[in-house]
Amino acid sequence: MAYLTNDKLVILGAGGMIGSNMMQTALTMGLTPNICGYDLYEPGLQGAAEEMYHCGFTGARLTWTTDIKQALTGASYLISSGGAPRKEGMTREDLLKGNAQIAADLGADIKAHCPDLKLAVIVFNPADITGLVVLLHSGLPPSHVTTLAALDSTRLQTALAQHFAIPQDDITGCRTYGGHGEQMAVFASTTKVEGKPLTELIGTSRLTEEKWNSIKAHVIQGGKTIIQLRGRSSFQSPSYLSVAMVRAAMGGDSFPWPGGAYLNEGDFEHILMAMETTISTDGVHCRMPNGTPAEMAELKSSYGHLCKLRDEVIGMGSLPPTDQWKTVNPYL
Ligand SMILES: NC(=O)c1ccc[n+]([C@@H]2O[C@H](COP(=O)([O-])OP(=O)(O)OC[C@H]3O[C@@H](n4cnc5c(N)ncnc54)[C@H](O)[C@@H]3O)[C@@H](O)[C@H]2O)c1
Repeated sequence: MAYLTNDKLVILGAGGMIGSNMMQTALTMGLTPNICGYDLYEPGLQGAAEEMYHCGFTGARLTWTTDIKQALTGASYLISSGGAPRKEGMTREDLLKGNAQIAADLGADIKAHCPDLKLAVIVFNPADITGLVVLLHSGLPPSHVTTLAALDSTRLQTALAQHFAIPQDDITGCRTYGGHGEQMAVFASTTKVEGKPLTELIGTSRLTEEKWNSIKAHVIQGGKTIIQLRGRSSFQSPSYLSVAMVRAAMGGDSFPWPGGAYLNEGDFEHILMAMETTISTDGVHCRMPNGTPAEMAELKSSYGHLCKLRDEVIGMGSLPPTDQWKTVNPYL
């Protein structure tokens, strides 16, 4: 089997649902044979590793450990779903407290054991905040830390394809930006349906204003729907998309969806949120989306919501006050 690279990819939370799926996806997609799984929970990790061995991937050189130093040493790429998942009735923000401290510890471990990491993809929720906390404490440049933020856009594409009863890839340009949470900004102006702007269809008999609003609400609640249907939080789609982000950073196929990016200028300061991004071998780069005034106002309101969460985390002590960030991470 041909792999894109031999560089080490470490998957944190590898004993869990997303992490174990990521191991399999990364091997199936031929990213690298050199994958290390890490988890705090040894039986889960060992079970996931056994399953990977039983797949019999040609050329795979899998390692697994509960020692964070061993996991991170020599790593070039990292994906972390190592945190608590959301249970029925919980919002992503309910997870904030425990997962923010896990993120702070992870950032410090990256700084100590793999300061030359090329890309970290943070998946555990609330990902905009955990990604920001990892970025700050890792000392990495912002181009080397991103978050999985694409799922809301793929959920929008899915919902529109189901509504119009057409193949999913006939809907293009689906975009949500800002927070990956209940206050994300869902853009209509970027989307096309079989080449026709979605904005020309909204308010017509093909897509009434009311139906569009219900599609937006469905997208925002997309994660909850999976929990209700499957009795647990989504794992296949986050696994695939996170691994696809790393594939782009390894020089493989480009990643066509938004990703998390650090912003500190203009109207958006000291925040990490879903932006229009490009991932290449030199990391993640972003540009501000070009929406209608109403969409940009929604983005600002999503940013405001994230700032509140960020400030809660500052209050908890997992992040220092923003005026001290530069002393912790000079890149910020
Ligand atoms: N960003 C997204 O789009 C998105 C989508 C779905 C789920 N998630 C999030 O991903 C996370 C993982 O979900 P899951 O379904 O795989 O959960 P899971 O419970 O199946 O797996 C989580 C794993 O993380 C491990 N873990 C806990 N603390 C850890 C630590 N400090 N370091 C390393 N590993 C640790 C656990 O032992 C467990 O094996 C959750 O926070 C969930 O909310 C994010």
